[in-house]
Amino acid sequence: MPEVHVVLLPGDGVGPEVAHEARLALQLIAPDVGIEERLLGAAAIRATGTPLPDETLEACRRADAVLKAPIGDPEFDAADVRPEQGVFLLRSELGVYANLRPSSLDGVDLVIVRELLGGIYYGARGVREDGTVFDTCEYRPDEVERVARRAFELAGRRRRKLTSIDKANVLETSRMWRRVVREVSAGYPDVEMDEMLVDNAAMQLASAADQFDVVLADNMFGDILSDLAAAVTGGLGLAPSASLGDRPGGLFEPVHGSAPDIAGRGCANPAAMLRTVALMLDLALDRPAEARALERAVDGSIASSPTPDIGGRASTTEFADAVLGALAA
Ligand code: IPM
Ligand code: MG
Repeated sequence: MPEVHVVLLPGDGVGPEVAHEARLALQLIAPDVGIEERLLGAAAIRATGTPLPDETLEACRRADAVLKAPIGDPEFDAADVRPEQGVFLLRSELGVYANLRPSSLDGVDLVIVRELLGGIYYGARGVREDGTVFDTCEYRPDEVERVARRAFELAGRRRRKLTSIDKANVLETSRMWRRVVREVSAGYPDVEMDEMLVDNAAMQLASAADQFDVVLADNMFGDILSDLAAAVTGGLGLAPSASLGDRPGGLFEPVHGSAPDIAGRGCANPAAMLRTVALMLDLALDRPAEARALERAVDGSIASSPTPDIGGRASTTEFADAVLGALAA
């Protein structure tokens, strides 16, 4: 068994296509790292009946890091057992509560820190007898506190500005969020903190994203705003993410979904997945030099071999080959 090993979850839709390129890049840049593939999502439901098989979870627990391609398949949209349930369970089982989603382009350089294990995505849901359907948003103060600390620490290493997102004019959870974030903020006097309502934040991200440094948001607001941040900095095809908890390692996944509409056509942009490999090298495997080299190679391919989503004509493989070529040179 190699000393350092990573579990690769190729996922669904365009997942296996971008996961393949990620594997090649990782093998080239860190040849000593062992890579084990496991099933998650729709692929796992088809093979085993469950979106997160025990064997996958055990492998992820043992790994130094988990590299996950997107999952999801419209075939299961109305089913009781759905691919997304596997992701939510994997995130909570790994305890990765802080999801870092960096975006940068033309003077914009921000990181969304999305709380990943609470809120409406994890609350009680159901259908009542009268046909009413409900999803509940719940947070405990300690869940807010731990992700807020992570975000302030990150802001302290960046431009020392943190914007906390909420809907405190309406939601009880948001008022608690504000109170706890203010308390945490007192421990980080060098970081300037401001608060922004989520609807205004969407407008500000669309029109003046350069004002942001670290943006702290709950699970759902962070999910939505991170797609918007990606859209204003080159698109979802470019956006990576890292999910971290208190243990070493972490779960690394691109922000984009499985894009079933373009799956199998060889035109998916592998940049987000490759940048996700770079985040993993940096934050879980402690190889910052390799991470920077991969980031530079991806930037080079964005300029020289763009895929259709960013206005070019390169295929997934052509884009990735340009990355591998630059790394080898
Ligand atoms: C994301 C995705 C997932 C999420 C889906 C696929 C469950 O949208 O990572 O942003 O909502 O977390
Ligand atoms: Mg999302």
